[in-house]
Amino acid sequence: MALDKNFLWGGATAANQVEGGVLEGGRKLSNIDVLPCGEDRKAVGFGEMEMLEWKEGYYYPAKEAIDMYHRYMDDIQLFAEMGFKAYRMSLSWSRIFPNGDDAEPNEEGLAFYEGIFKELKKHNIEPLVTIAHFDVPIHLIKEYGGWRSRKLVDFYSRYAETVLKRFKGYVKYWLTINEINILLHQPFVGGGIIFKEGDNKEEIKYQAAHYQLLASAKATKIAHEVDPEIQVGCMLAGGSHYPYTCRPEDYQEAIKRDREGYFFIDVQARGKYPNYALKKFEQEGLNIVMEDGDAEILASAPVDFVSFSYYCSRTVSAHPEDYQQATGNLFASIKNDNLPSTEWGWQIDPLGLRNSLNQLYDRYQKPLFIVENGLGAIDQPDENGFVDDEYRIDYLRKHVEAFKAAVEVDGVELLGYTTWGCIDLVAASTGQMSKRYGFIYVDRDDEGNGTLNRSKKKSFDWYKQVIATNGENLASPVVATASV
Ligand code: BG6
Repeated sequence: MALDKNFLWGGATAANQVEGGVLEGGRKLSNIDVLPCGEDRKAVGFGEMEMLEWKEGYYYPAKEAIDMYHRYMDDIQLFAEMGFKAYRMSLSWSRIFPNGDDAEPNEEGLAFYEGIFKELKKHNIEPLVTIAHFDVPIHLIKEYGGWRSRKLVDFYSRYAETVLKRFKGYVKYWLTINEINILLHQPFVGGGIIFKEGDNKEEIKYQAAHYQLLASAKATKIAHEVDPEIQVGCMLAGGSHYPYTCRPEDYQEAIKRDREGYFFIDVQARGKYPNYALKKFEQEGLNIVMEDGDAEILASAPVDFVSFSYYCSRTVSAHPEDYQQATGNLFASIKNDNLPSTEWGWQIDPLGLRNSLNQLYDRYQKPLFIVENGLGAIDQPDENGFVDDEYRIDYLRKHVEAFKAAVEVDGVELLGYTTWGCIDLVAASTGQMSKRYGFIYVDRDDEGNGTLNRSKKKSFDWYKQVIATNGENLASPVVATASV
């Protein structure tokens, strides 16, 4: 069995990492806009340091990002040239509801996205749209404490209903919340949460998770009512955990860590809380408030497909002393000597992708979608902006081979593959531009210098050929492309 002829090959971006124009067209600030590049980014992302506006002495890369707000026509043209069947993007919540709790949406924001969808349609590119990708309007954080508050369920639902109705006919594939499990690891990024002294952090995070799960179910229900053709997916920051040794307690730790992510998807795909989570709340004394009717909402709208990001696998142990050599990942992980690492310490593991696909398919029996995968690397452009990124081709080729095996050999149902950062963009974890994922180089550095000009890398031609042959020809292109 080869890949389906309608397999959705494409690329992925997120509003805050590409658009810029953050105060244009009636838009207001959101959490991600105030994440500075540099040392304090982590503390802000973890919700340990309050930063709710732009401050002197910091550089905020989302402010201009790669200026796709003004350049999307040209960028989509390049995606079309590569033969994209799908383009994953996100809407900026505060472009549509600038404060988050406004009674009416901002027409200029809606019109902006309509322009993008029209352009995609012209090129027969299917949009795959994330409603919230690390995105909480600042006003909702100041006024309600972000996703600490149940009020966010209604604000998010209104936002979702607005865009689902407005873009009916343009968008068939929707994702409710990007990497929903990131809420546990970076509560400000995932939920606009800033901790105060004395907070029971675990309780606050899982309460916010309950609200996000409710909001996601509501959006899924609305989507199906608006248009039964719509397919809604959940989105997991994926990558499984290996036990550091075959000590049973290490394997138990790996299961536990996998469940931290599966917890969300179990609810979104199956429509109810798994027992292990309810037991966790009970045993750890977490008082998670669930109102009458919440269980019915969750049960009423399981997602149609399961999407996930995959960059690397992780290795864990039950013994803290094993964590001497950790990797650069956001999730605590021991260095796995069997795997090479990226320049940022993420461990490259294509077979891990095949295994993840199998695990997810066994668990949910729903179609899967790889909506992020790619190599963050430092590129050296020549004087024409051309980058000979054979290392990126090599990474992607191995991952394509891995997911093809999952489909062709293991029988996993896979809807598509959208590589992360198909055009260079701002890195979410570090705020750097120098951590590049794209097929298209963007002239911009970590301090905001550069022309923002676009040019094709070697991988541009490679991916074009991969798509044209539906994944059959994965060889490197012989001829280099001149810059755009
Ligand atoms: C995922 C996010 O976490 O990984 C993206 O959904 C992010 O927003 C991507 O950019 C890669 O991570 P980073 O930190 O290298 O940009």
